[in-house]
Formats: sequence, structure tokens, C-alpha cells
Amino acid sequence: MKLCVIGTGYVGLVGAAIFSDWGNDVVGVDIDTEKIDRIKKGEMPIYEPGLSEIVLRNISQNRLTFTTSIADGIKDAEIVFICVGTPQSDTGAADLSAVWEVAKDIGKNMNGYKVIVTKSTVPVGTNEKVKMIIRENLPGPQIEFDVASNPEFLREGSSVEDMAAPDRTVVGSDSEKAHAVMRRLYEHLNTPIVECDLRSAEMIKYASNGFLAAKISFINEIAQICERAGADVTVVARGMGLDKRVGSAFLNAGIGYGGSCFPKDVAALYKTSTDQDYDFKLLRSVMEVNVAQRENFMNKVLRHFGKNLAGRTFAILGLAFKGNTDDIRDSVSIEIVKKLRGLGAKLRVYDPEAMYNAKQALGAVNVEYCLDKYETMQGADALFVLTEWKEFATVELDKVKTLLKSPVIFDGRNLLDRAKVEEMGFTYFAVGKRTNGMVKIDTRNLYQTVLLNTNGSTGQH
Ligand code: UDX
Repeated sequence: MKLCVIGTGYVGLVGAAIFSDWGNDVVGVDIDTEKIDRIKKGEMPIYEPGLSEIVLRNISQNRLTFTTSIADGIKDAEIVFICVGTPQSDTGAADLSAVWEVAKDIGKNMNGYKVIVTKSTVPVGTNEKVKMIIRENLPGPQIEFDVASNPEFLREGSSVEDMAAPDRTVVGSDSEKAHAVMRRLYEHLNTPIVECDLRSAEMIKYASNGFLAAKISFINEIAQICERAGADVTVVARGMGLDKRVGSAFLNAGIGYGGSCFPKDVAALYKTSTDQDYDFKLLRSVMEVNVAQRENFMNKVLRHFGKNLAGRTFAILGLAFKGNTDDIRDSVSIEIVKKLRGLGAKLRVYDPEAMYNAKQALGAVNVEYCLDKYETMQGADALFVLTEWKEFATVELDKVKTLLKSPVIFDGRNLLDRAKVEEMGFTYFAVGKRTNGMVKIDTRNLYQTVLLNTNGSTGQH
């Protein structure tokens, strides 16, 4: 089939790469000339395992081309995918200005029947407005088109696999003709295709992300109770997850969810609910628990070291919002680093992929960027594990012990083996486990107290 993908961010670039790998002719469009030039040379604007190989292979086989012109891009396309960003606006709602712009350009350049498909995450009702904008901008009233919603469920770090072999494909449209076109693209996958109306498809995406975020906040609250009651949340999650109705995914307790999707999509879904005069109470709690989780973590640090961290140096492993990505958008790790710095600490930081992005976000003041995980630990008062990179789980504990000034570990991702860590004589603070680091449960919220006292001097909260 002939396809056009507008927007070459995570969704668009991975989508274009995989669609072309399936044998389709794909034109990728982006307004950023420099980005397009780099992609053509095989330099990916994002870190995504396996992506550059697929892009280069399909460019060389002439199935994948790029342009900065929407007119050129859509000229021969049967399906046009809108994959532009929908960042969070000040109100919590998604900012759809890029979608409207692209819809206008598509409308102006329509030259025959096409299905216009939104892949960007957009609130309920957006596709109907896309349809209206395209219709208003058509060069002639005789030109036919349909719109469809085809949300993506890609996870950063494994988006290539997720796109190539999804659990399900969701296609919403009010037109049977459009459904038939979309079926041709996806039916070879032999995975379920949920065909529905536009609004239900838009809702499926938000409901899925909201539910996954709720799972994380649920296990994070269970972790709080485990700490107080003397249970171990990792064991509890395993015991729960083996029940197929519960499922084991997204039950890792930690410092809370971050990233470019969950925080924004959960806020947007909540906004949709209030716009519909409904208070989505559960989702409101999901967001509150997520913020509280990082405060709980900070409280452990402050209970151990006191409220003034001046003169302390901490080793930080992990800056990305999760493992296998260089993305630091809404990274809880970056926020914790800022909080520690705000309280006077010096940080020695390392992340396998996110160093460049972290430098832009954190600057140089009281942050030293290290070449590997062990370099961070030299002379540090404690080690912090903040991102779930596999390589941090295999850290050599005897080496850690010789490098740190004092054997203290704050493990925000429960990556390390508690028994081994404690056997080696570390004071170990994990999430949702009563450990030797937690002599007595203290429920005071010290971190919030500090914020009140310093009156915004930390400024990060
Ligand atoms: C998410 C959705 O999974 C994906 O379907 C959607 O298309 C985009 O948003 P992504 O943001 O890439 O993907 O990351 P994900 O793997 O879902 O993790 C999100 C955040 O939750 C990360 O900060 C991660 O560390 C955290 N997380 C995840 C937990 O704290 N515990 C878990 O058990 C799982």
C-alpha cells in the first residue's frame, strides 16, 4: 500500500519504519529539515533499539523516503497518518494545535480518496474536528475522504517490537470503506483488530494508559502498607501477578511513573472527565499517589541524613524516566536529583543513554557527569538507584562498598537483591520492604516540612 506518515517522533518514525518493513511504500513527513536530513543518513533523533537498522534497510530498498512537504507526502498515499505531538497544555488538556495545523494542510492538498488516520494520542471528539477541518480546506467539494482513529500503544525502549507485533490493533471509524482499507494494512498480523466508532477508539487509548498508571499507583500504595506492616512488595506483586486476572505487568513498585505519556495522558483523561461533568475520583487518586511516592522516597533520605544535605555527595544511577531510553521527559529521577540539589547535596550522576539530555535539564551546578556507574560512587555518602536499567541490577556490591564513603543504598526501583545487599553490610532502603535501613517506621512527611520551611528555595516541587 502507499502510505504517508506525518511527524517523525517516536510514533511516526517507528510507524513509518515498520510499515515500510511490511512492504508498503511509505513517505515520512516532518517540518524539521535538519531532522529529516539526519534520518536520511541513518542518524536517529531518538534512542530506540533496532530502529536505525530498519530505517536504513527500507531507505536503501526505496520503500521509505522522507520529505518536508505535506503536499508531496500525501500525493500518492491511500492512508495518511497524523503522528504529531500532543503535549500537555497549562490546563492539563492535550495541546492539539499541531494536529489542527496538519489537518488544514492535508485538506488543502487532497487530490483524491484517502483515509486520514490519527495515531497521536488525542481526546475524545478530536477526529470529528479533524474531519471538519479537512472538509473546510478541501480544494474541491467532490473530493472524498474518511477519517479514522488508530491509537498506538508503543512503549519507549521497545517501540519497534510493540509496533511490529502489537497485542491488538484498534481502529475507529464511522466509515466501512475506511475500515476495509485499514484491514488491508493490518490483517497480516494475525492479532485481534478492534473495529469500532471514532470516539470509542480515542477512549481506548486513554483508558488503557489510565488503567496501567492505576496499576502502578495501586502497587505503590501496597508498598507503603508493606513497609509499615513488615511485608515485601516484590513478593506480594509476584503472588498477585500470577493470577491471570491481575497479570504481572506494571506491578513494580518504585518512585512513581514518569515519561512523555502517562503523566500527560492521565491528566488529559481527568480533564475529559471534568469536562463531561464527572469527577473521576480513582484517577485523581492515581495522580496524587504518584506525586506522594517521590515524597515518600525523599522522606527516607531526610530521615537518614537530616534535612540539610549541604556537604553530602550522592551517587545517582539512572536519569531517564525508565530503562532502555534516553528520554528524560517527566523523569522522576531528574526531579529527585533537583530536590537533593535544592537541599544542598552534590550529585555524581550516570545514565547509559540519557547523559546528553540530562545535561540540558540539570546544567553543571553541583552535578558531576560520570563516565560509568562506578565513577559516581567514589567518595559518595550514599548510592541512589533511580532508573530500572538492567546494568544497575548487576552492580558488583563489593566494589560499591569500597568506593562509597558510607555503605548506604537508596533503591528507588527495587533493583538490587535485598538479602545480598544486607549480607554485605549495607544500610539498604528499598520501596515497600521493611529492611535494616528502616529502623522504625516514621510516618512524618519531612519532605513537605522542608519545603514549607525553605519557602520555595528548592523550587522543584
Ligand atoms: C506508556 C505505555 O506503556 C504505552 O502503551 C503508551 O503508548 C505510552 O506510554 P512508556 O511511557 O514508554 O509507555 O513507558 P512505560 O513502560 O509504560 O513506563 C511508564 C512509567 O511507569 C515509567 O516511568 C516506568 O518507570 C514506570 N513504571 C512502569 C513503574 O513505575 N512500574 C511498573 O511496573 C511499570
